[in-house]
Amino acid sequence: MKKSDVVSEILKDRLYVSPKNKIGEAYAPTNIALCKYWGKRNQELNLPVTSSLSISLADKGAAVSIKVNSVDQVILNNVILTPDSGFSQRLFKYIDLFRIENSIFFQINIQSNIPIAAGLASSACGFASVIKALNHLYAWELSNRELSILARLGSGSASRSIVHGFVEWHVGKRDDGMDSYSELIEKEWPELCIGLCILNRDEKKISSREAMQRTIETGSLYPAWPAKVAVDLSLLRQAITSNDFELLGRTSESNAMTMHATMLSAWPAISYCLPETLVTMQKVWKLRDEGLSLYFTQDAGPNLKLLFLKKDLHFVVEQFENVEVVNPFR
Ligand code: DP6
Repeated sequence: MKKSDVVSEILKDRLYVSPKNKIGEAYAPTNIALCKYWGKRNQELNLPVTSSLSISLADKGAAVSIKVNSVDQVILNNVILTPDSGFSQRLFKYIDLFRIENSIFFQINIQSNIPIAAGLASSACGFASVIKALNHLYAWELSNRELSILARLGSGSASRSIVHGFVEWHVGKRDDGMDSYSELIEKEWPELCIGLCILNRDEKKISSREAMQRTIETGSLYPAWPAKVAVDLSLLRQAITSNDFELLGRTSESNAMTMHATMLSAWPAISYCLPETLVTMQKVWKLRDEGLSLYFTQDAGPNLKLLFLKKDLHFVVEQFENVEVVNPFR
């Protein structure tokens, strides 16, 4: 099954309508997985090996506007990208799935307030905001489930960026992925804070796509990953339902460390850690030993995301220079 088959299945005859609005606009928050998506059972459709669970980052994300134009063009944070830039090509490959007539071109204007490709899930909010903006432009009136499936075709983690709050992406069983979509967990946790510790802004050397594939193919620890995810998902659901922050923090940190262990067991081994990543981890562990309720998670990049409660905000900001704090339920 190809991506275009999934698009036709969801949009059916709506795929053939022309834009109903002059401009399609949307915003999507980025998200941070507390239980990670690491490994695909289908690379074409970005179907995962396991379910995953994330928290959306409120006003950290991407705002997109799309309109019909005389040529294809991407403007990212007020800079016009050259058509051969990697970002522009990946985006228009995705847009092509929804372009029935080759004679129609688009200008896509993206305002993103997170570093691109530094392990801060920029592709997640990028593809989620683009599909939401197309939905607005064409007035398709898609449901969040359908938007999540279509966003997944751009990037797996984008399927979790359609809504705000805690989100679970269901693994699904079907080959066409119609049961692999994300859903809001109806629970707010206003005291929860996320601290973005940007330790390095360089573009990552190996994409998560490539890294997860190498891990599946060669990682000797990868076979243990699905069972770890099953346990962590159930602990996280329990932590969220019962407002148990220690359980949430412990489970998230352990899940991230295990994901990175599967990568270290790949050949050639993959490590996204820089010396400053390890220094920051040691600092979190030391503060925790001293009684602070502080945890971290790490994605496919050297930056860490801290997890803590509002009551410790001042202390955390004092301890970690340049930390940017997000309150997902503000
Ligand atoms: C480590 O969603 O970027 O952030 O589906 O190939 O685009 P593709 O991968 P992507 O992978 C995200 C990996 C992760 C964990 C997570 O967000 O769950």
